[in-house]
Amino acid sequence: MSSESRTAVVIPAAGRGVRLGPGAPKALRALNGTPMLIHAVRAMAASRAVSLVVVVAPPEGAAEVKTLLDDHALPERTDFLVVPGGESRQESVRAGLDVLPPGIDIVLVHDAARPLVPVDTVDGVIEAVRDGAPAVVPALPLADTVKQVEPAAAPGEAEAVVATPERARLRAVQTPQGFDRATLVRAHETVTDNVTDDASMVEQLGLPVVVVPGHEEAFKVTRPLDLLLAEAVLARRRANDGF
Ligand code: C5P
Repeated sequence: MSSESRTAVVIPAAGRGVRLGPGAPKALRALNGTPMLIHAVRAMAASRAVSLVVVVAPPEGAAEVKTLLDDHALPERTDFLVVPGGESRQESVRAGLDVLPPGIDIVLVHDAARPLVPVDTVDGVIEAVRDGAPAVVPALPLADTVKQVEPAAAPGEAEAVVATPERARLRAVQTPQGFDRATLVRAHETVTDNVTDDASMVEQLGLPVVVVPGHEEAFKVTRPLDLLLAEAVLARRRANDGF
């Protein structure tokens, strides 16, 4: 794949984000006054390699999301499309893949819930796909030890631990995940199991998935405390920009 490859990003943003508590869909929650989705779109468009960003919106909110994108300053070199999402994250990603124009040969999939990923991480993922990897995930080592459990027999009963995977060999995987376009489309056509990320679908095809360094600022805004952390990161960036 040459350095002439064209890259698009699909941002699934159609989830309700119930773990954050009641309120607007998660992607539309404000961080320092700007919707999380706009931060995520800007984080992707910050890469000079990205020529198109496809936002997959809540089906009833597609018009609102289109207006949001129109109302916020975004780089001129990047095109934007908004499409309605589906019932699952996978369906939403597929809706985004369906509208990609010809000429795009690298596709990133990035969760709207990771609004602060630095551009170096985005570029690192694109570079690894350009270098020939069919699928690339940014990831970090884990701080916590992870236990595999048997689901509780009844609600309220204790879960039994069945295994402790070796922590040094585990990675917490982030987005954007990067793909050779044809590989990702084939994965979405072939794999029907419910999965929590796109790379695992490529794994199921038996193709290699490689890891590049993730970044602590690429964390997923999931719980209320994450909103505080995200605002603290933005405040630190603003303070650093002042110097
Ligand atoms: O629920 P979770 O945090 O894993 O969702 C990851 C991403 O997938 C979020 O950005 C969410 O908006 C998106 N999603 C979607 N369509 C759905 C469910 C989730 O686009 N039906």
